[in-house]
Amino acid sequence: MENIRTPIVCMLGHVDHGKTTTLDKIRGSTVAERESGAITQHIGATEIPIDIIDNLCGPLLNKEDFKVPGLLFIDTPGHHAFTSLRSRGGSLADIAVLVVDATDGFQPQTEEALDILKRYKTPFVVALNKIDKIPGWQTTQNSPFQKSITKQKNKTQTKLEEKIYEIVGNLHEAGFQSERFDRVKDYSNTVGIIPISAKTGEGIPDLLMVLVGVAQQYFQQNLIVETQKPGKGTVLEVKEEKGLGKTIDVILYDGVINVGDQILIGSHQNPIKTKIRSLLKPKPTQEIRETGQKFQKAQKVDAASGIKIVAPNLDNVFAGYPFQVINNQNEQKIKQEMQSQ
Ligand code: GTP
Ligand code: MG
Repeated sequence: MENIRTPIVCMLGHVDHGKTTTLDKIRGSTVAERESGAITQHIGATEIPIDIIDNLCGPLLNKEDFKVPGLLFIDTPGHHAFTSLRSRGGSLADIAVLVVDATDGFQPQTEEALDILKRYKTPFVVALNKIDKIPGWQTTQNSPFQKSITKQKNKTQTKLEEKIYEIVGNLHEAGFQSERFDRVKDYSNTVGIIPISAKTGEGIPDLLMVLVGVAQQYFQQNLIVETQKPGKGTVLEVKEEKGLGKTIDVILYDGVINVGDQILIGSHQNPIKTKIRSLLKPKPTQEIRETGQKFQKAQKVDAASGIKIVAPNLDNVFAGYPFQVINNQNEQKIKQEMQSQ
């Protein structure tokens, strides 16, 4: 049997350009406000079921057109100290959203994020954020961009076009062709620029529409998975939880994982073998960083998903380690592959 798995969408961009606030708008949450130092310091993950995307998109998308079960968003820090976390997020992604503040334009970590996307050949779109700050902008809360833009005076529209063409120029220098999303003819060779405001919600329906559309139209092949394939993933964080001991928060990006499965977690010298005691899933739209004790127990989890794994023998596991579900046939092979990486 084959299945279409949830695409992994990674938010990348310079510090404070609005990655977490964009996700807050989609989730209906206020994670960004509670972050220490008002910056993101870890990789986050949130599953957005297709029903919620359908609600937010309104008439832009028909439910019958959906083939993906939802989107799994990965949030990354924009602060310059966290290059390795951005790189890890970028490497996991099927598609990325490069968030650029419309006032500040391209900044050092925007360039760095682009380098990561080039290195992993990750398709991406640009969310040109904070359009509510363009002088004269008239807000219509949560409105699709194509509706909002018709409400703006000519002068404001021209200002926005200038911002967009500044980004088109930056992307051109980096070797990418780009255009405002509603003028893109072929997303396989043109980067779509979606003007949004994470604060007012304008353009968020368009961003979601483009992400679902591009995922389904241009890389559906990558999303077709065998339903029983052994799971593969990456460790995001190792956490001590009250009553559970050491646990790992992971992204499962391929296959299936079951309670009772054995996994190998790759450390360079000696992969660690352990057995899944329980699988804990955040509720839909909940950021895995914020779940506290509010998880749902699962017997089986399909990719792509952010989950907490409870298992013995996690003392020498670190963030960034890969893991795979093993069985008697493939254990030696996977061990050798992990040791040679
Ligand atoms: P890091 O994770 O630390 O890299 O930052 P970030 O990209 O996640 O930015 P964050 O979402 O934390 O937003 C930074 C600041 O910009 C916050 O004060 C937000 O309220 C503000 N902000 C984000 N989006 C918008 C927007 O669309 N309009 C306006 N006016 N402010 C915004
Ligand atoms: Mg953030």
